Amino acid sequence: MKTTFYGHASFELETGGKKLLFDPFISPNPLAKNIDVNSLKPDYILISHGHGDHIADLETIQKNSGATVICIAEIAEWLGNKGIKEAHGMNIGGGYNFDFGRVKMVYALHSSSMPDGSYGGTPAGFVLYIEGKKIYYAGDTALTLDMKLLADEDLDWAFLPIGDNYTMGAEDAIKACEFINCKNIIGMHYDTFPVIKINKSEVAAKFAKAGINLKLPEIGESLSL
Ligand code: NI
Ligand code: MN
Repeated sequence: MKTTFYGHASFELETGGKKLLFDPFISPNPLAKNIDVNSLKPDYILISHGHGDHIADLETIQKNSGATVICIAEIAEWLGNKGIKEAHGMNIGGGYNFDFGRVKMVYALHSSSMPDGSYGGTPAGFVLYIEGKKIYYAGDTALTLDMKLLADEDLDWAFLPIGDNYTMGAEDAIKACEFINCKNIIGMHYDTFPVIKINKSEVAAKFAKAGINLKLPEIGESLSL
């Protein structure tokens, strides 16, 4: 399967003819100015939590594509109140078999509210079971002991925040790799804002020293997983 980075924490995953888009924050991100939001036509949009830097382009892309939004129940309700009925609400610990594979919503240690101040429920991460592989998308999170619950999932890949300040930084993300027992990592949630700017070569060296395969794709770049 293929993943394409759209900047910040936004990735598209293509699997079995379906496109899954995570946390679209593209049009307000100057680093992603070459990505045309109106060209994105996902089948599903997965939302980790309600902060603006994860949902800025959600309504535009959903309206363009008719995609089903997979998110926590409170965000599904918020979308419903805005007239977006194609939302599949879940909650922490629950899994569901979609037509592309299974998604389990897992704990993330962060905060969440909607841009208009509405309650956004709990922030979340996702474990995806697709094409015989297991992929963890952590969302915005601190390092948390609950990550150890994923240790025996035998994860193939994990998308982890590494930018510090709002989420865990590189050192904690390296500990997270140990907790979740996964050595193939795609870094996210860095460089977008001044407070989360990282030195990519220093961070890459730290992961390499820990024996972890860290990918930091360019915006617009695709990787096969
Ligand atoms: Ni956040
Ligand atoms: Mn964020």
